[in-house]
Amino acid sequence: MEKLLLIDDEVDVQYSFRRIFESPQVEIAAASSGEEGLKLISKIKPDLVVMDVRMGGMTGLETLRRLRQTDAKLLVIMMTAYGTTQTAIEAMKLGAYDYLLKPFDIPKLKQVIESALQAARAMKEVVSYEPLPDSEDYDVGIVGRTDVMQSVFKLIGQLAVSDATALITGESGTGKELVARAIYQHSKRNEKPFIAINCAAIPENLLESELFGHERGAFTGAATQRIGKFEQCNGGTIFLDEIGDMSPSTQTKILRVLQSGTFERVGGNKQVDVDVRVIAATNKPLEQAVAAKEFREDLFYRLNVVRVQMPPLRDRLEDIPLLVNYFLRKIGRNQKQRPKSYTPEVLAVLERHQWPGNVRELENVVRRATVMAKGDLILPADLPSELGTPLTAGSAADVPGPLPGRTTSQNLAGDPPDLRAVSQTLFRWARSDGKLKIIPAVERELIIHSLAETGGNQVQAAKLLGITRATLRKRIDKFQIKQLISVQ
Ligand SMILES: Nc1ncnc2c1ncn2[C@@H]1O[C@H](COP(=O)(O)OP(=O)(O)OP(=O)(O)O)[C@@H](O)[C@H]1O
Ligand SMILES: [Mg+2]
Repeated sequence: MEKLLLIDDEVDVQYSFRRIFESPQVEIAAASSGEEGLKLISKIKPDLVVMDVRMGGMTGLETLRRLRQTDAKLLVIMMTAYGTTQTAIEAMKLGAYDYLLKPFDIPKLKQVIESALQAARAMKEVVSYEPLPDSEDYDVGIVGRTDVMQSVFKLIGQLAVSDATALITGESGTGKELVARAIYQHSKRNEKPFIAINCAAIPENLLESELFGHERGAFTGAATQRIGKFEQCNGGTIFLDEIGDMSPSTQTKILRVLQSGTFERVGGNKQVDVDVRVIAATNKPLEQAVAAKEFREDLFYRLNVVRVQMPPLRDRLEDIPLLVNYFLRKIGRNQKQRPKSYTPEVLAVLERHQWPGNVRELENVVRRATVMAKGDLILPADLPSELGTPLTAGSAADVPGPLPGRTTSQNLAGDPPDLRAVSQTLFRWARSDGKLKIIPAVERELIIHSLAETGGNQVQAAKLLGITRATLRKRIDKFQIKQLISVQ
């Protein structure tokens, strides 16, 4: 449950806030003065504070200044009446998250509060990146045991202790933002703010002002001065998501801030000094953008000092069971229910999919399947049909049908085997073993089995296996099977 503290001496405002925002997820506390607000903050530790600038007693600005002496990152939204924007600007310089103009535009109010609560979560939830044991209870983790993920964890650890700029690359949904948050959470800047900006979501002409602020009259519509994220986030960490979508002039400013920690607000000439750590991410191949002269080469090299390359999920299918268990536990915990389980066929389907949307897509599929499942067990039918069903004969052209000439009772009763699933199991085994040679191992096993089934009749066994008797003989010699089975 998230806690929102409202500091306002007007009872009406307190009343409307409760009406609009109180929910099973959000608890509202209210204070009528700055003094009371500060006391309540240390007592209830809210996730977000919404505070009026003008109050009897200590002003909102003074309250914010005092709060900042003990807490650099608690998110505060200031409320101010029209015509007093100068105070709002002062508030932003003190690290307020945003400001709202009274009287409120309710949709805008909701939007700002939702985005602030989201930012609060990103700052608060510690993202664990140690390879986690399956049974452990944790809130937010980067799950993965494959070698590629181990290297990612190592890099996160190194980046957390340094203050270096980092570039995180990888396809959509591979966990770039999660990695950025893990670096922040474990860094020495974790007592300071973390602000994420999606460069692709902000119109090109506004991004520069969003990041660096602007002076009054800098462009049409710039009626007042504005403080940008770099200034607001001083001492903290800025996560520049989708950095490939940045205009050349913004790129130039970013380069300068990385090199010298200085910039000027748009339309201004006063130098502003900041100490901000930058973590950037992109799902576009920046090298290509550099080659096409769309992205500054010098900025690319400056960002690329430490690069975290997130592997696509299809390159680490072995992590799927771990991820599925993690998501099921997470969903179970949120719904206060025992996590659901699933059949091996479900896993076989999941391990065969190519996952263009990566971990995000997997998480969505698991969520949907828990809703679809009628009981505690997820079945293949609960998965979206695009993922396909466990293979049946003829359902995929590249998979051979059932083995010919099978005569045992088991085969008469059973469905055709899911050869892909079997191969996947074998590959997992081979990877964990290292010494296992799959083809000879499987061939030997099949030959022993066919001989056992036919009572050692080589003609029948060869027919079962789909090879000639001569070939069977050669294999029997090669694998020294005679010693194991008395062949007729
Ligand atoms: N290794 C992982 N372990 C657990 N959850 C993960 C992992 N990787 C990604 N996720 C989850 O998948 C979702 C997508 O992750 P995230 O937002 O970090 O991806 P992204 O690479 O930033 O994607 P995009 O490029 O689309 O912004 C999130 O809900 C995240 O919690
Ligand atoms: Mg992202």
